[in-house]
Parts: sequence; structure tokens; C-alpha cells
Amino acid sequence: MTNHSQGSNAPVRIAVIGSGYVGLVAAACFAEIGHTVTCVDNDEAKIAALQGGLAPIHEDLLPDLLAHLSGTQLSFSSDLSTAIKEAEAIFIAVGTPSLDTGDADLSYVESVAAEIARSINGYKVIVEKSTVPVYTNEWVKRVLVRNGVHPENFDVVSNPEFLREGTAVSDFLHPDRIVVGADSQRAYELLARIYEPLTSGSYYAGRTSLPGKRSTGNPVPILHTSAKSAELIKHASNAFLALKISFINSVANVCEAVGADIAEVAEGIGRDSRIGPRFLSAGIGYGGSCFPKDLKAFCSVGSQVGVDLKLLHEVETINAKQLSRFLAKIRSTLWTLKGKKLAVLGLAFKGGTDDVRESPAMKIVEALLSGGSSVTAFDPAAMPNAAAIFGDRISLASDPYAAAERADALVILTDWKEFAELDLERLKHLLRYPIIIDGRNLYRPEEVTRHGFTYVSMGRAPASPATDIGQAAAHGSLQRN
Ligand code: UGA
Repeated sequence: MTNHSQGSNAPVRIAVIGSGYVGLVAAACFAEIGHTVTCVDNDEAKIAALQGGLAPIHEDLLPDLLAHLSGTQLSFSSDLSTAIKEAEAIFIAVGTPSLDTGDADLSYVESVAAEIARSINGYKVIVEKSTVPVYTNEWVKRVLVRNGVHPENFDVVSNPEFLREGTAVSDFLHPDRIVVGADSQRAYELLARIYEPLTSGSYYAGRTSLPGKRSTGNPVPILHTSAKSAELIKHASNAFLALKISFINSVANVCEAVGADIAEVAEGIGRDSRIGPRFLSAGIGYGGSCFPKDLKAFCSVGSQVGVDLKLLHEVETINAKQLSRFLAKIRSTLWTLKGKKLAVLGLAFKGGTDDVRESPAMKIVEALLSGGSSVTAFDPAAMPNAAAIFGDRISLASDPYAAAERADALVILTDWKEFAELDLERLKHLLRYPIIIDGRNLYRPEEVTRHGFTYVSMGRAPASPATDIGQAAAHGSLQRN
């Protein structure tokens, strides 16, 4: 059912357990909409940094929120027990990484539930914010009861989060919907009170509210579902988005085979309002800390309940093949990898973030290195995280142009906005050969070839200037600049 909350707008005392992407952004945004929030983590160094005003992740708008709210609406602590005692609502936002079996590792959730049981001092609403499989709600309840908590003293609610890294704050404050999976009306009402500034639109009327697609006249709908449905909504949403990406990548491969252009095809498909234009960008496949892990966990839920989610296995297979296809494109453009000096733009799993977890860009760099190429890379935010993995196996540049200097080709791996606005003339003079291999389709082929480049992208035929240097490249007779 869809409701607009009519609950009171009194601030709620909230504890958020876990200061990762979801926990930290949720804590800051709950404070931003008027609640009193303590964000707890057992990583004391991280808490000390947060108390000192440092954001541990690269996330647009987050440093501003932390600067405004820390010490007033928002505090950071490693004292879980006190935070639990003081809170009316406790959001669990700890990690749920993949086990070798593909299942989500719920041991962090379990130990937080046991910790809550030890410190509980009155009725609390415990909210699953981490991405968890169906039935986690039941298990959290069971852990509390086993640890001696009376069922009247708590409710467990599933309130999945749909924010994307890079736009997390804006996604949180201007969401498409808020899903509250609550089997108890009392717990639902507390969650409705928490989100009231967004569902009534009152937040958007404030002079200092962060702008976005929502407004007082267009507030956020809240969906009240069962706890199990909410858990499934999260897994099914991520699975569907991943499916959309593998679908468009498959269509891109057909486009290449027949000489069509995936950008035109995606636009034509996306104009159908039943399909929609978003998540139809062909590329080197999806990565990140969510889709790969959540797909595996959802398939595992399926097999546990006797449903073979074959479709999603195929989505994973297509995604993995997309990387090999891109590597094959690099090889067919450069002929051999050994001894090549390559300029790589992008290491993060997508633009706008410093996150390199399951990053297709990192996998491609690894493959280029194993093939004997040397790599000089630039990423606006992810270089420290990449350096921690590659060490001195790659060189890091101070900007895209420094990366391009004397390189045999430029390889674009992440869709940072700034990579779509490069000075192509300047690049051409820096590179040894005017070749761009673009895994993210950031340019229109005619624009790049006009500057004399050979341009290889996804779901489109390779494009070369009139001098046809691409053909020359394929046959090993490159002309040096
Ligand atoms: C994803 C979901 O989009 C969020 O709704 C969800 O809350 C989040 O996971 C989560 O479960 O926590 P995120 O992983 O931050 O968010 O990033 P996305 O923007 O979804 O991108 C995921 C991957 O798909 C990236 O590698 C991106 O480059 C790729 N992608 C995305 C494409 O290849 N094509 C597209 O059209 C869109």
C-alpha cells in the first residue's frame, strides 16, 4: 500500500550502526532532516577521523553535511551500548559481504543484534538498512529473543536503501520511494515519523534544504510492505538494474556485429516509458560493492527456496564476458600488449566515487599488466585506493594529459564527467599514436575522428579518420606522431 505519512514531526533519537557508505550517508541525512543521530562504528580510528570532521569516502555533498551537522544533530561514537540505550530507532548498516558460497555473510548483523540484546533498556525499533536476504528480519528477532529480550520490547523493520555511490546524499534526500517493511503498526509509525520531512515535503520548504528532484509539491511516496517483501524489493531492484545493463551490453554486441550504433538503439528503446532511459549505457560491465554481491546472494536465496534464478546467472555471465570483449578490442587495435605503454583514465568502478571494489577498470588494468603492458593511470578520486592494490606496478599521473604523454593509446575505463570533456587536440599531440579505446562511450565517434583519432568504443563500429590509422594499427604499421 502507498501512504503519505501523517505522523507527528517530532525529532527521533536515532543510532546508526556502521559508518560505511550507507551508514554514514544515512546518519548524516537523518540529522539533516532534523533528527538527533549517533553514528557508531567499532573502528576507533575511523570514528576519531569523523569526530575531527574528515569524511572517509569521496562522496559529493557529504563533507558539507558533516561540517554543518557534526557536534549538533550528528555525533560519532564507538560506544555501541550507550548509543543503543539512548536511541528510539537503531539502524543496522554494517557490511554483508559475500561468502565463498555466494551467500551474504550475516555474521556482522548477528553480532550487532546480540549487542543490542545486551544493551536494550525499553522498546526499540531495530531497522535493517544493510542489504540482506529475505528472512534476515526473522533471524534478528530470533537472536534478540534467544538473548533474553521480551518480544514486546522491540520490533524489527526492513528499510532498504537505494542510494548510489557518487550521488548518495542527493539520492537519500530525493528518493523515488521509501520502502518500510514493517509487520507492526507501532514500528511503521516510528519510521513514518522519521521520514515525515521527506514524505510531507516540509524538508524541501526549508531555506537550507539541499536541492534535487523532490519538492514540497512533489514529496516522496512511502510504501508500507511486509518485512519479507521489503527484503525482496532490495534484492530484486539491484538484480533488475544489473539485468538492464547486461541486456544493453548484449544488444551492443549485436550492434557491433551488424554495424548499428548502440547509443541510437538505447535512445530508441529508452524513449518507451515502460522501459525508461536509465541504466541503458553500454560499457565494460557493472561492478562495485553491490550488484556483483547482491546478485550472488539473490541467486543463493532462490536456490534455498527451490527457485533457480537462471536468468540472473546469465546476467553474471554476460557481465564477465563484457570484460573479455573489451580486452579483445584493445588487442585488435594495438595488435600485441607486450611492451605497450598505455594511458588509462579511470580506476573507480564508476564516476563520482573513489571506490575500486569489484571495479571493471581495475580488472582491465590487471589484465593489461599481465599482458606485458605498462600502465600510467589517472582517476580524480580513486588513485589512493588503487595504489594500495597495485603498488608500484602502475604509475599514477596528476591529470589525464600527464597520463597520455608518449602513450601508445588512451584507454577510458570509468565514466567520470571530466573524461567526457577532454581537450582532444592537446591529447593528440601528447600521445604517440592518436588512438582512444573507450569502454564507456563518452564521445561521439565523428567528434573524435574529426580530430584525427582512431576511436574504438562499445556497440559501435571502430571509427578512423580519413587516413585510416586504425587499419594501420591493426596491421602493425603505426605512424608515430
Ligand atoms: C547500486 C544501485 O544503483 C543502488 O540503487 C543501490 O542502492 C546500490 O547499488 C546498493 O545496493 O547499495 P551503485 O553500486 O552505487 O548503486 O552504482 P550504480 O550507479 O548502480 O552502478 C553500478 C555499476 O553499473 C557501475 O559499475 C556502473 O558503471 C555500471 N553501469 C550503470 C553501467 O555499466 N551502465 C549503466 O547504464 C549504469
